[in-house]
Amino acid sequence: MKCNLMHKNIPVMSFEYDDISGSITRLYETYSTEHLPVGVICANGVIDRYDINRWWTARAIPMSRDGLIDILYTLGINVVTPLLGKNYGLSLSDQYWICPENSGITWDKVNFFDNAFSEDFGDVLIGNSDSTKDINFMSPDITSGGWLKKKWKIVDDKRVLFKGGSKPFQQEPYNEAFASTVMKRLGIPCVQYSTALIDGKPYSICEDFIDRDTELVTAYEIMKSKKQPNHISKYEHYINCCKELGIDNIQEFLDKMITIDYIIVNEDRHLNNFGLIRNAETLKYVGIAPIYDSGSSLWFNSPDTQIKAGAREAVCKPFKDNHADQIKLVSSFDWLDFDKLYGIDEELNEILKSSEFISDERRSTICNALTARIDILMGIAEQNMKYTNINEIGNDVTEDIAYSGGQQEQIF
Ligand SMILES: Nc1ncnc2c1ncn2[C@@H]1O[C@H](COP(=O)(O)OP(=O)(O)OP(=O)(O)O)[C@@H](O)[C@H]1O
Ligand SMILES: [Mg+2]
Repeated sequence: MKCNLMHKNIPVMSFEYDDISGSITRLYETYSTEHLPVGVICANGVIDRYDINRWWTARAIPMSRDGLIDILYTLGINVVTPLLGKNYGLSLSDQYWICPENSGITWDKVNFFDNAFSEDFGDVLIGNSDSTKDINFMSPDITSGGWLKKKWKIVDDKRVLFKGGSKPFQQEPYNEAFASTVMKRLGIPCVQYSTALIDGKPYSICEDFIDRDTELVTAYEIMKSKKQPNHISKYEHYINCCKELGIDNIQEFLDKMITIDYIIVNEDRHLNNFGLIRNAETLKYVGIAPIYDSGSSLWFNSPDTQIKAGAREAVCKPFKDNHADQIKLVSSFDWLDFDKLYGIDEELNEILKSSEFISDERRSTICNALTARIDILMGIAEQNMKYTNINEIGNDVTEDIAYSGGQQEQIF
């Protein structure tokens, strides 16, 4: 089937689409290289077919999504990419989609920002329905990222993301709510999360921070679009890329992101968990995405005994592979008012209290560990220990973690 890759109403390229495998088998014409997805390889106007397929298949739910393999089995498929054509590849995080040639379909008629969408597939994904018969796949849930169970819903005309937690503690939704509370206190731009129970399981709830005019461009895509010189650290490379795009206050933002991740011991700030926002028509970068996805934190999957003993070395991303080093990248703590964190442990206690999956003992262990963590940060901020050479690349995160476990098995 011949299709156009579209960016809202702008045709980007035409190609042959194989809807059985969900892949791009042949490239025809290129209409706009500027509107290509950020990071897709295009040399001298020639788009790399492997790379555009990499980008396209990464739009689908990652195979690592909790419960996905069983759902695909009931659908009679073993990879997720064939589903991508069923919602035209439309998403609620950006403005790309594919339009079959001569179909007469327009972005205005199909986009999920202005038009209602089906919740059938989202309900199957979160385990709210086990019927995969006669599903209406016109849903942004085919193109949502991340490994946790989730679904989009329209509530009071707003696009809202419901996201679950993981076994055994189901702690992530509460962590999201807590992280946004801390960031609100500290004046850090962030997505606000609340929590709710569905069928006895906790979910975090947040509004879409993208609208019909804008889109999220992740740090992964931004950093991929420019070669990182060997003598430049990952952190410095990201700053350079953002500055080139006109985002001058990126270092102040990173100071805050690294600090909040230190406080909550975030283990999953990979390169798809932060980024910039651009206008999809003008391509102008309009700002930094508010902080989202902070749930894999606060020892979310550690047994209480390990938290107590401080035994488990927390994973750290995206720049350094341990938090003690990453916090040294913060250029200034002048903005950080520790008085604003007064009583934050009690607030965490209140939030975690609503969980049936977290024992009283675990709750108090986590709250105590958080207090200890803030004390350590106070010492660090007082000493203001920094890297003397910001391009020291020792302990840089090396693995391409943005897509770990998330890549689709596919033959291009
Ligand atoms: N509020 C939002 N508005 C727009 N897009 C969002 C929003 N929240 C999440 N997204 C998009 O959905 C993706 C998946 O969401 P999220 O990162 O919260 O899920 P996750 O399962 O926790 O992911 P991970 O695998 O990184 O732990 C994000 O990477 C982002 O592209
Ligand atoms: Mg994520």
